[in-house]
Amino acid sequence: MLEIKNIKKSFSKKRVLKGISLTVEKGDIIGIIGPSGCGKSTLLRAINYLAPPDDGSIVFEGNKIEAKSNLISIRRKIGMVFQQFNLFENMTILENIILSPVETGIMTKNEAIKEAKQFLKKIDLIDKKDFYPSQLSGGQKQRIAIIRSLMMKPELMLFDEPTSALDPEMIGEVTNLMREIANEGMTMIVVSHEMNFIKNFCTKVIFMEGGKILEEGTSNEIFNSPKCEALKNFLSKVENI
Ligand SMILES: Nc1ncnc2c1ncn2[C@@H]1O[C@H](COP(=O)(O)OP(=O)(O)OP(=O)(O)O)[C@@H](O)[C@H]1O
Ligand SMILES: [Mg+2]
Repeated sequence: MLEIKNIKKSFSKKRVLKGISLTVEKGDIIGIIGPSGCGKSTLLRAINYLAPPDDGSIVFEGNKIEAKSNLISIRRKIGMVFQQFNLFENMTILENIILSPVETGIMTKNEAIKEAKQFLKKIDLIDKKDFYPSQLSGGQKQRIAIIRSLMMKPELMLFDEPTSALDPEMIGEVTNLMREIANEGMTMIVVSHEMNFIKNFCTKVIFMEGGKILEEGTSNEIFNSPKCEALKNFLSKVENI
């Protein structure tokens, strides 16, 4: 589904991605771990061309993603969920959810409202549909951000630390929703510091450091028999695994 070959990215003179290659098959749940500043967010942002790579190639469903691609259509197929939710504060929850599908013309307003209500019922937040984001908890806002993304019927979902801005008691409600989406067959790439989640959830785990992939394997391989010293060192520092 997605073939990343040797992508490189610099900001000013700082090299942030130093040749990353990664293959993602349909149904994969890929976890990306690594120390702060190693380039995890930049890699996710390169995939949907929010941070265009300087070199290398990204092929999504047989089409190269490049400056002349139809980026709107690509971003419709590749959903992204951010740490800080990015909901529009001046719109109600329902308005937030229906905005993109209606604006891009993939649904009429009535269709979008109907579908949004089904999603809201599924996550038990239908009673919040006319609230504003500021009236919701972080966990509720993040679940809204996730279903807003799902409204576009993406083929691939990118999650950039979806739980790291949340209080501990809210992490579970977001990871549970992510599990449900994964069980329904969504292909996902997840950057997270929640090692328990990565360990139990991902079909493949990538360890990055200094803009490179240093190790990759099943979660069992990565967590139970890490090979490189950098990964061993990283795992010894992260708690709750
Ligand atoms: N838009 C930008 N302009 C300049 N430098 C940037 C930009 N985005 C990222 N960087 C730099 O690139 C490096 C990698 O950043 P990135 O956000 O990808 O790391 P990360 O692995 O996601 O870290 P964290 O775990 O803290 O989120 C950092 O040194 C960062 O300062
Ligand atoms: Mg980041």
